[in-house]
Amino acid sequence: MEEMSNSLPFDSLHNPSIERYRQIYKESIENPEKFWDEHAWILNWYKKWDKVLDDSNAPFYRWFINGKLNISYNAVDRHVNNFRRNKAAFIYTNERGEEKIVTYHGLYKRVNSFAQALKDMGIKKGDTIAIYLPMIIEAPVAMLAAARIGAAFTLVFSGFGAEALAERINDSGAKLIVTADGGYRRGKIIQLKEIVDKALEYTSNVETVIVVKHTNTDVNMVEGRDYWYHHITGENIYVEPEPMDSNDPLFILYTSGTTGKPKGIVHSTGGYAVWVSSTLKWAFDPQETDRWWCAADIGWITGHSYIVFAPLILGLTSILYEGSFDYPFPDQIWRIIELYGVNILYTSPTAIRMLMKYGDIYPKKHDLSSLRILGTVGEPINPAAWEWYYKNVGNSRCPIVDTYWQTETGGFIISPQLGIANWPLKPGSATYPHPGIEPVIIKENGEIAKVGEKGYLFIKKPWPGLMLTVNKDPNRYVSTYFSKVKGYYFTGDYAIMDNDGYFWLLGRADEVLKVSGHRIGTIEVEDALLSTELVSEAGVFGKPHQVKGESIVAFVVPKSGIQREGLEERLKQMVREKFGPIIVPDEIHVVEMLPKTRSGKIMRRVIKAVYLDQLPGDLTTLESEASVSEIRDAVEKFRNEIKQ
Ligand code: WT7
Repeated sequence: MEEMSNSLPFDSLHNPSIERYRQIYKESIENPEKFWDEHAWILNWYKKWDKVLDDSNAPFYRWFINGKLNISYNAVDRHVNNFRRNKAAFIYTNERGEEKIVTYHGLYKRVNSFAQALKDMGIKKGDTIAIYLPMIIEAPVAMLAAARIGAAFTLVFSGFGAEALAERINDSGAKLIVTADGGYRRGKIIQLKEIVDKALEYTSNVETVIVVKHTNTDVNMVEGRDYWYHHITGENIYVEPEPMDSNDPLFILYTSGTTGKPKGIVHSTGGYAVWVSSTLKWAFDPQETDRWWCAADIGWITGHSYIVFAPLILGLTSILYEGSFDYPFPDQIWRIIELYGVNILYTSPTAIRMLMKYGDIYPKKHDLSSLRILGTVGEPINPAAWEWYYKNVGNSRCPIVDTYWQTETGGFIISPQLGIANWPLKPGSATYPHPGIEPVIIKENGEIAKVGEKGYLFIKKPWPGLMLTVNKDPNRYVSTYFSKVKGYYFTGDYAIMDNDGYFWLLGRADEVLKVSGHRIGTIEVEDALLSTELVSEAGVFGKPHQVKGESIVAFVVPKSGIQREGLEERLKQMVREKFGPIIVPDEIHVVEMLPKTRSGKIMRRVIKAVYLDQLPGDLTTLESEASVSEIRDAVEKFRNEIKQ
């Protein structure tokens, strides 16, 4: 099919300045349609759009109306007929020191072959597949192969347990799942296929399971349902990329909210791809020869957007690392940076705080001079961590790009933009909005916050990376994101803008926790505890944690007849198995009753205040005073136990 594109992904000449940013930003806000009409050419399109933005059905905004494209073409095919053919797309390594380099040509071959395998398994345009894989090459291959034939995918973080996986398979309606025999984690093997087998007991839509042989673990293969990946791929095959509508869904990614059920965030094809590739360019100014390491897991939006789609669209070389930063050595991360000459490192404040604890000696032992730019994501970065990262990792010469965004926003929305601007950084501030993003801070009373005043962060206008909807629940899309202030996108975060127009993100304003940068709903953890049937009530909140940002604390009331001895451990064990380690509370306290309102709502804020020795605030709606002393006694007992 004929290809259209009028610009190369990399500008040969650019001159970042504050004036340049102001001019680009102004154009993007004053005339977004003109702005995106030009900028969408970062991609190749089969057919140009008739209209840039359709807001007639707001807040269901649609971009690049009737534009046709294919993401796998943009991420792979367009690089194989030029000098990038033999360039590494991915350098995979793991905690065992194994290495696999996949060039753009190699990726192209793999994607085509797996696309055919999916077709042979009956997957067609409009279907959804699930992907439950560790950080291995087959994960991006599966994502791109699905996109190539027009199927959407939902990739589930391999740290989730069987029930969490089943819930996502059911909601997405996936007909096929791609998994591996196992994955490596800190010297152990996580039995992924076994978890899939268990999850499939709770689902009926999956007809086919494809298993990547990775750890050589024994697995149980079900005849007629389960196939080895290496048995069905490897043919020399070309699969014509399906021309997709710009607003066809590319993937569904589940994320936690303020209710128990995770939301399936649906992202588009055209708008999303334009957004992630543009924002990566603006923020990090990557160069053709760079080695880019986005050290997130592919199971989160950070991995989707900035390990897979944006870097591949731009033709970059990415590090794909399966493992922890501090295993098997405390300097594992620095070894990798040195060995592969990483130029840009993008990670989370939690990881930085963890590495900081090991001390300066470890980064000092290594040659980190290849690093040019550092980045952070996922939670506010405290100035001490920023300084440490800047001095000890970047040797006081690498700018830190603090990127603020969300699963729902597709890509960065507020961050330094090294490709456009050169304003000074301020530790802890994500600085300025990206082109097309118009942030507004609104106070509780509905007034617009003045400079220096804290309020809720909203985004006034749509941008191409904004999700399409919440899967199967458009009402939830409207009520969660567009109802607090009508027509404005609600982020759920607190923010302040300072005198210089810099934005400071201050954390969640709702019942959502940020544990090691992972987003976890308090109610999600409560529901997980209740699902064990060992407790009748659970109240969960986040407590400040030096490394993880927040840790999960739960207070539970056991069901009558349940033995208290070892209850905490049993609960942890069951929650881990069903939902995965990230949902497991760090502390569980057993009490007789929880503070509740007269209408029966658990008052988490009261539990948290008592726990943290703060004033519990307004107690007029409290049902029983005794519940507060219950918590107080439990906390007292816990403190004594720790002291001993
Ligand atoms: C929430 C979104 C963004 C991809 C990974 C997390 C918090 C994210 C920052 C930052 C302060 C941040 C917010 C946001 N957050 N980045 N640079 N500074 N807070 O995506 O799981 O959807 O979480 O992460 O609270 O709402 P997510």
